Amino acid sequence: MSLADVIASDRPLRVAVLTGAGISAESGLRTFRGNDGLWEGHRIEEVATPEAWEIDPQNVWRFYQQRRRQLSEVDPNPAHFALAELEDGVEDGCFTLITQNVDDLHERGGSRNLIHMHGELRVVRCEECAHNFEAMGAEHLADDEFIPCPECGHEKVRPDIVWFGEEPYQMDDLMQAVIDCELFLVVGTSGHVHPAAGLLGLARMRGAYCVGFNLDPPLNVGYFHEFHEGAAGELLPPLVQQLIELDIQP
Ligand code: OAD
Repeated sequence: MSLADVIASDRPLRVAVLTGAGISAESGLRTFRGNDGLWEGHRIEEVATPEAWEIDPQNVWRFYQQRRRQLSEVDPNPAHFALAELEDGVEDGCFTLITQNVDDLHERGGSRNLIHMHGELRVVRCEECAHNFEAMGAEHLADDEFIPCPECGHEKVRPDIVWFGEEPYQMDDLMQAVIDCELFLVVGTSGHVHPAAGLLGLARMRGAYCVGFNLDPPLNVGYFHEFHEGAAGELLPPLVQQLIELDIQP
């Protein structure tokens, strides 16, 4: 079976895409693995666990404030734009983009039906009353000032990020999209972190045609029907053109 067969045999074509840190690398954001296991100079467990927030909230807050400020210094790259173009090319309701990334480059690239399964840097959340809100004003971005909850007055909200040991967001919706799709694309993720890494096996088991894009083969590379080695920003635009030329509209 080939990509052309998948597109010819099923109409309307349902597409799901899973992205990871690799898709934002060409925009200048560091990936998690591949820098001696350090993320921007930190061990993940020092900054991305509920325990770290409990023990040293200042350190965790400072780390995420830096990441939050960094959003204004980076822009979407051709891979982000290509996925938005693909979404525009398929029938409404037939495209779901699932990202593990907490940056906002997919939405700024034009993607609409987007699930941030690991949360979003732009958003903060109160652990007392669960109120969450976007907090990107200059008054919200200082390193050493916590933001109090405007609803219940709790002294500090946390980043709305899914940390290790916490359950990812919208699992039911994203699994349904993976189960329903005929074409599953996986871009720039190392396949280390579950449950995201298990979605490829699920898609394959449920009959989707699975295509991967990565600089290096990820851990679960064996599940792909096609694997393309290289930079997402170079590989995705021609792939999307190819799909559009194959006439993905019903
Ligand atoms: P990783 O850092 O584990 O993997 C990034 C992947 O992107 C690697 O496989 C690289 O080979 C690939 N890559 C790098 N540059 C690329 C490029 N230009 N084009 C294509 N591929 C490229 O990041 P994730 O798999 O996203 O979770 O990590 C998953 C989760 O682990 C993250 O969401 C985060 C982290 O801990 C939380 O924070 C909860």
